[in-house]
Amino acid sequence: MSEATVLPAGAALPVAPLSPLRLLRTVLRNPMEAIPAATLTEPIVQQGVFSYRRVFVMAPELVGQVLTAEADAFVKAEAMQRALKPALGEAILTADGERWRWQRRAAAPIFRHERILGFLPEMLTAAGRTRDRWLALPAGQPVDLGHEMMRTTFDIIVDTMLSGRGDIDVDRVEQGITDYLGATSWAIALAMLHAPAWTPHPGRRRAERARDYLRDELLRLATARRGADPAGHGPEGEERRDLISLLLQAQDPDTGQAMDDQDVADNLLTFITAGHETTALALAWSFYLLALHPAVEARVLAEIAAVTGGGPLRPDHVPALTYVRQVIQEAMRLYPPAPIVARTAQRDVRLGDLPVRAGTPVYIPVYSVHRHRTLWEEPDRFDPDRFRPELAKARHRYAFLPFGAGPRICIGASFATLEAVAILATLLPALRLSLAGNTAPGLQMRITLRPSPGLLMLPARRAA
Ligand code: HEM
Repeated sequence: MSEATVLPAGAALPVAPLSPLRLLRTVLRNPMEAIPAATLTEPIVQQGVFSYRRVFVMAPELVGQVLTAEADAFVKAEAMQRALKPALGEAILTADGERWRWQRRAAAPIFRHERILGFLPEMLTAAGRTRDRWLALPAGQPVDLGHEMMRTTFDIIVDTMLSGRGDIDVDRVEQGITDYLGATSWAIALAMLHAPAWTPHPGRRRAERARDYLRDELLRLATARRGADPAGHGPEGEERRDLISLLLQAQDPDTGQAMDDQDVADNLLTFITAGHETTALALAWSFYLLALHPAVEARVLAEIAAVTGGGPLRPDHVPALTYVRQVIQEAMRLYPPAPIVARTAQRDVRLGDLPVRAGTPVYIPVYSVHRHRTLWEEPDRFDPDRFRPELAKARHRYAFLPFGAGPRICIGASFATLEAVAILATLLPALRLSLAGNTAPGLQMRITLRPSPGLLMLPARRAA
């Protein structure tokens, strides 16, 4: 056992406040390094002066105030909007107010519990393809786990949200998303310095080409589907009611307004982007932690064997894998795939004793909340038993927020959890994954929290 290899939270975070120029350089290199170390111990931290002032909120009751009780006093943070809106438009993740509300209502039916359970066959098939690919590798060949998991979750999001896939070029779309997200740090840093959105920066042309390709592809798909088969009929003539058909047929109950093709395309790209990399990272970090904690891995394998009786994993087994789910929750506590939830105050508010002026960025550093010294015992230790139902219930509901909270909570939270359990429980009994090399990966933030420089692992077939 090597618990010490779990990265201690304080390792990356700066103790002294950063000047605006250092802040720019730090955000460009790695926004994680711009989160002050005091966020691990304090309930709320304010930094910077005048228009560079920003507030970090960690105390669960204050987090609840920002995300739920007074959610209407905040909008999505301007820096994130500048990074994402050029590609995602005014879709569900990036819109605010009424425009957000009706898009959320339109997409909600696809995330109902029974509907999500119905996606399990696609999830297990995609996981099985990854398992077979790894089993066919020559002995000793490492895999880049982040990339492998992204490939798996990308297939699942496209298969479930766009049944039949349309005819999109999956590899090019995935590459386009990576190219686009790669340049978002510049947009975020420039917004923090109040530089205009048109300011040139390295990687801009590449990101713009990626954005144009993605928007054109998805618009083409939305237009073709509206013309041919808006309800999305399957091979037997049945209505598939996939995400694209729900969006094409959605009508705002108050205004009667429908989505045009561009709105549909923006939402499709949003779901593909928001829905695959995050889940892939939760899985990559879970496999990493299991490789470091063989006793936990043995318990996971024992649970899977008990639930499946040693046979193949079936859809009805997946919801019963409660310890596997706890492992994924604990991995998301230590390495939250979305490490910061960001807002801007729209009006003057008071957070505890701190008056916050309209226009101030308010960040919830989920990474720090999840490792906060006053909220968790031995916060840097990997211990999935923290998520035993009775312990989870006793905890403050805003102390664990991998999916955010309040009205803007991740719409795909249950989908992602079920998917991660299904993938982990397909791969782990067939293959033992060990670390290739013995250095712990660092943390790199590009909207999501990635292992840096990557996570190379060696898959080896388990003895039958
Ligand atoms: C482990 C995987 C995932 C994590 C950690 C995650 C995390 C998050 C977080 C933190 C938010 C809230 C952002 C905010 O309040 O500013 C969010 C929103 C969202 N997520 Fe996820 N997500 C995951 C998987 C998914 C999946 C699988 C889908 C789609 C199938 C999805 C679709 C969305 C959408 C559409 C929103 C915007 C919701 C709204 O604003 O109403 N996510 N996600």
